[in-house]
Amino acid sequence: MTPRILAIESSCDETAAAILEGETRVLSSVVASQLSVHGKYGGVVPELASREHLRSIVPVVREALCAANLTFGDLSAVAATSGPGLAGSLLVGLTYAKAIAFATGIPLIAVNHIEGHIHAVILEAANSGSPVEFPALALIVSGGHTHLFEVRQPGDIDQSPYRLLGRTRDDAAGEAFDKVAKLLGFGYPGGPVIDLLAPRGNPRAIRFTLAHMKGNKLDFSFSGLKTAVLRWVEAHDLAQDTDARKRLVRANPTPSLDEWLAVTPQSTLDLIASFQHTVIEELLNHAARAAEGLEGVRSLIVSGGVACNSGLRAAATQSAIGLPVYFPTRALSTDNAVMIAAAAYPHYRAGRFAALDIPAEPNLTLA
Ligand code: KG4
Ligand code: ZN
Repeated sequence: MTPRILAIESSCDETAAAILEGETRVLSSVVASQLSVHGKYGGVVPELASREHLRSIVPVVREALCAANLTFGDLSAVAATSGPGLAGSLLVGLTYAKAIAFATGIPLIAVNHIEGHIHAVILEAANSGSPVEFPALALIVSGGHTHLFEVRQPGDIDQSPYRLLGRTRDDAAGEAFDKVAKLLGFGYPGGPVIDLLAPRGNPRAIRFTLAHMKGNKLDFSFSGLKTAVLRWVEAHDLAQDTDARKRLVRANPTPSLDEWLAVTPQSTLDLIASFQHTVIEELLNHAARAAEGLEGVRSLIVSGGVACNSGLRAAATQSAIGLPVYFPTRALSTDNAVMIAAAAYPHYRAGRFAALDIPAEPNLTLA
């Protein structure tokens, strides 16, 4: 029988379940977002996140089974994210997966969330008929991570396919988007709003310079940029406009482009565009430098929530990097369970199963 893997993702603020048949056939995918719960706090509140996961996990898994027209008895394995992520959030999905494994007798597979983001791209590229060629570079950019890896053969899990080339020393790229947006009164999450408004501003209006990294030149740092934006905001007396936007978000958590534009002067649009441009340039400069330094590397994978960014997608071309570039669709860029199922598949094939007492690991690393 072709194996069917049920996967569960609950590392941050999305409760997700998906079923994958064989290596690439997605039978169902369900994502319950908690945005409406955390939005008003300007970020994810861990205690609320785990409570929401508890509320959603059973219906989300049930819906994934229903949509695939399957029951627990039809499954070959159950996979769950074991880290990295918020401890209380991880525990909900992992514990539920253990309960399913225990009750049905199918094996449990523990998946690294970052490996999931990489596999989202590999899966979709395979399904589109132009598979990712290896060795590849992988740039994982999300609210919690900014990592650059070398990926040898990802299916060959016994050969340790990942090598960490660089990582952020402070804020993640998505965190920088979220903090700058919060500072300017744009609500949470910040990435999508900045993405929407940046094309209305001049990306070269303000020249932000980023710190030069001592040591590993492929490491990132975004906290200085966030501080530079804060200084600019203080120097340009933007409090009134910021308050107007905060009032707008309180009245309507999802304003339209026109509603945002009505409370955002050109100088702020220029600030947003310049900020986004600086982040994109930094990410792509690092990727291009890594590509130059690695002999034989054949493609670049970009994944994680920030991979939704239109400016990044437009700028990350083969001519900018010197390699073919692969992005996931937007639905698989942010957290989902299809990517966890896809990452679980090589473990299933290799018989790499987890014991039922495996812990959640908030600080789990990939390499
Ligand atoms: O991968 P993800 O869903 O969760 C984590 O693993 O962190 O990423 C969420 C992050 C948030 O910081 C959010 O602001 C950012 O991805 N994000 C974006 C965009 N959409 C989501 N950043 C820039 N542009 C976007 N369009
Ligand atoms: Zn993620």
